[in-house]
Amino acid sequence: MPNQTNLDPFVPEVLEDPYEVFVELRRRGVYQLPDTTMFIMTRFRDVEYVLMHPELFSVHGLTEGLTRDTPEIREIEAQGWPAVNVLSKADPPEHTGYRSVVNRPFSAQSVKTLEPRLKEIANRLIDTCLESNEIEFVSQFAQPFPLYVFAELMGLPEEDIPQVKRWCDARIERMGGTMISHERELACVRLAVEFQHYLFHQIEARRAEPRDDLISHMVTASVEKFGGRSLTTEELISMIDIILLGGNDTTINLLSSGLALLLQHPEQLDLVTADPSRIPNFVEEAMRIESPVQCLFRTVKEDTQVDGVRLPKGSRVAVMYGAANRDAEQFPDPDRFDVRRPNARMSVAFGAGVHFCLGASLARLEGKVAFEALLNRLGTIRLAEGKNDFRYAINPVIRGLKELHIECDPPADTPSTERSNPRL
Ligand code: HEM
Repeated sequence: MPNQTNLDPFVPEVLEDPYEVFVELRRRGVYQLPDTTMFIMTRFRDVEYVLMHPELFSVHGLTEGLTRDTPEIREIEAQGWPAVNVLSKADPPEHTGYRSVVNRPFSAQSVKTLEPRLKEIANRLIDTCLESNEIEFVSQFAQPFPLYVFAELMGLPEEDIPQVKRWCDARIERMGGTMISHERELACVRLAVEFQHYLFHQIEARRAEPRDDLISHMVTASVEKFGGRSLTTEELISMIDIILLGGNDTTINLLSSGLALLLQHPEQLDLVTADPSRIPNFVEEAMRIESPVQCLFRTVKEDTQVDGVRLPKGSRVAVMYGAANRDAEQFPDPDRFDVRRPNARMSVAFGAGVHFCLGASLARLEGKVAFEALLNRLGTIRLAEGKNDFRYAINPVIRGLKELHIECDPPADTPSTERSNPRL
């Protein structure tokens, strides 16, 4: 049973398996981490309240404290472009301006047009997985899938994907910043600056000759909220970077946690296999019970109260999405994985309010397309015996399995369906 000293949700042993500590934190309500100005929200209603009140809770310093700020780091960063607080790092009214540029391309309607291409990507990756009947699912499917989708959206050449992956990994690794060495953080910052230079060239190419992709859309947009001007190079780099970071590890973890949950609950797998129209609700339930984004931070803008607890101006709030999504007040029998749960979609896995996930429709479509293709083409799937330790990466923000080893017996007539692009 957790006690007063181990209620810190950010220590490695709790990050590995946080759910018991969440029970105690939810029982206590708004919890001030001893000797800090950090208040931890774990109840569904408190998390929702914070997210719905951007006038009281600012996103400035969203991930502050996760990274170091040393003279060496600043020196490397000076070789790139200054980061601009866009999208998840901006409060209204600036946030509204940035969001207006990308809302349409990420709407459910626009995203739906990507479905055939997403199917091709999933099927191509499954073709490679099927070269052996033993698959390490995280590296062979879950990691490449969202990267191919990102490259497709942004119009990046396919051959750049391995390098984009290295840059993206370094950006995510740095978010667990104080948990890596200073040396390693410097290497991550160098890679981040390299990525900025790469994006700069992509942006310049579209300025010279716009194409039919999201970078061109952002380059050519005039932003009414900003007096009709277009976005600057710094803003564009920050927008693309945030879209990559927002959509990558989150989707990887949805796919790998989702498949692990199905394989650990064979009766739920049977329900989904028997009726694939249950896949979208299964995807919601997987995100509820193993929320890919576990926590982000807010800063209190003026003295206020949540649930009777006084929060002074300037104090920090840890918004624990993963804990809120297991609150029995919102989800009866919250630790039970149930692909038929009627309100699975009502979780805060995608946040709430003005910062509600920009990529929610895309992520939902990616989940649907990936699991439809996987269940259809892998046939009987099972966990590879003795190979899985179900270890989660230690990261305060993102929760995901390091590895997932599976075996499958594909049906003899597995069609490698609908490939219109021979390059993929
Ligand atoms: C399973 C997949 C995903 C999960 C669980 C997820 C989760 C979240 C959450 C919780 C937030 C709210 C952050 C806050 O409250 O401050 C958010 C925002 C955001 N997400 Fe996602 N996300 C996913 C996929 C994606 C994808 C595919 C993209 C884009 C390709 C994306 C891009 C973004 C962006 C840009 C924001 C910031 C929005 C804003 O502040 O206006 N996400 N996401």
